[in-house]
Amino acid sequence: MEKYLINPNERKSVINKDLYGHFSEHLGRCIYGGIYVGEDSNIPNVNGMRNDVVKALKEMGIPVLRWPGGCFADEYHWKDGIGKKSDRKKMINTHWGGVVEDNSFGTHEYFELCRQLGCDAYVNGNVGSGTVREMSEWVEYMTFDGVSPMAELRAKNGSKTPWNLKYFGVGNESWGCGGNMDPEHYGNLYKNYNVYVRDYKPDEHIIRIACGPNVGDYHWTKKVMDKVKYSTDAISLHYYTLPRDNWNNKGSATVFDRNEYISTICKAYRMDELINNHLAMMESVVPGTRVKLVVDEWGTWYDVEPGTNPGFLYQQSTMRDAIVAALTLNIFNKHSDRLLMCNIAQTVNVLQSVILTDGKKMVKTPTYYVFKLFKEHQNNTLLGSYITSDKIASKNDGGREFPQLIESASIDEHGVIYSTIANTSDVKKAKIKCQLADSRIKSIKAEIITGDSHDLNDFGKKEKVCIKEFSGFRKLSDGFTAELPACSVIRFTIER
Ligand code: AHR
Repeated sequence: MEKYLINPNERKSVINKDLYGHFSEHLGRCIYGGIYVGEDSNIPNVNGMRNDVVKALKEMGIPVLRWPGGCFADEYHWKDGIGKKSDRKKMINTHWGGVVEDNSFGTHEYFELCRQLGCDAYVNGNVGSGTVREMSEWVEYMTFDGVSPMAELRAKNGSKTPWNLKYFGVGNESWGCGGNMDPEHYGNLYKNYNVYVRDYKPDEHIIRIACGPNVGDYHWTKKVMDKVKYSTDAISLHYYTLPRDNWNNKGSATVFDRNEYISTICKAYRMDELINNHLAMMESVVPGTRVKLVVDEWGTWYDVEPGTNPGFLYQQSTMRDAIVAALTLNIFNKHSDRLLMCNIAQTVNVLQSVILTDGKKMVKTPTYYVFKLFKEHQNNTLLGSYITSDKIASKNDGGREFPQLIESASIDEHGVIYSTIANTSDVKKAKIKCQLADSRIKSIKAEIITGDSHDLNDFGKKEKVCIKEFSGFRKLSDGFTAELPACSVIRFTIER
């Protein structure tokens, strides 16, 4: 029996709702077809946005959406995406499949999407192939409420009032697709571009995000921090889980053996180490906690589904991905003191999506249900908690270990406690005894997502993975006991 302690007296950091953020790039069928179908589509839409997708994302609790990339961001010239649609420039999306980008989804459409979703905006600017003036004018266009050329242009294009821009990224992956720079060069460019990202609204600071490291590139973190210091609010980390650590043979999203399952979970768990080490590196250069970390690209990355455009990064999603999502979100909760925002890649039809579409049809992936289950943590206060756990060793990773049980707990403003636990073993159940310090329990409810690690939801088939009520627990006066099935994610809702 594993011991699980939750201490409601130990109030830690607030879990910023934006740790549950999403990312949508002009890539494959994420924006076009997945989210935006245009006003004239026979797929039900409001102002071009699919009603089914908007409804599902709202129900899941989408707090913030990053756009327009990714690699696409450093090739994107925002003026191509405003004004009359028939006059907008067409271009080739060279990064992603070489398809024609007609720019019918641009700045106005993005903010309309955020309005419909009720979520905050995170726009990523172009450092790789754009100018300082171009970036500066985009920020003016989006946020300035006064007399200026860009404010006038925005009004002419239909939006007299400016929008709320919460986050702005100065470049994306500048170490790679965003310009192939070395960190010193990028750091200097960041400082230059950032000067012209003006806060036009006196009471609203646009939160700046500098391009941070890829995976374990601590050298990048150090050198960029050396340059940017307090001129940024955060730097961004990108970490994808590739089961085979091999870009030319990543492995299938749906066909995998036990060793590959374990290796995927083991690699996903590396997120904890990366966050710890990058934060330590950041603090060694800029003491204190003012500069935060953002993980604005994370998730599993497999080979594309057979027969699909390799540049579209379309993959299915199974219970394995649900476990990756649950353990990662628990890790984010535990680091909520220093994380500002996280964005899974990507929202619809690309990589570890929460939604897949096929023409008119839509399915919610197992990862969707994890986000829905965890939504109660948003803006709660993290509680001190600890669970004992067996360790699982990954053969494919030289015996590297990770815990079988990964959890976090939070409390809302009414005193209700939410505990989410991932049982990462695909074969072993776990018995736990939970105790809440200084507490008499009034009631407990529990919900579960579980199945075989290969289970998935597919078009035209009965939904296999979703949230179900869980009754495999027994309430005690100061806690509960429970038996957690293999490959499961459970949320306990506890009232005292
Ligand atoms: O999410 C897909 C791509 O992964 C993004 O465009 C890029 O930033 C990263 O390499």
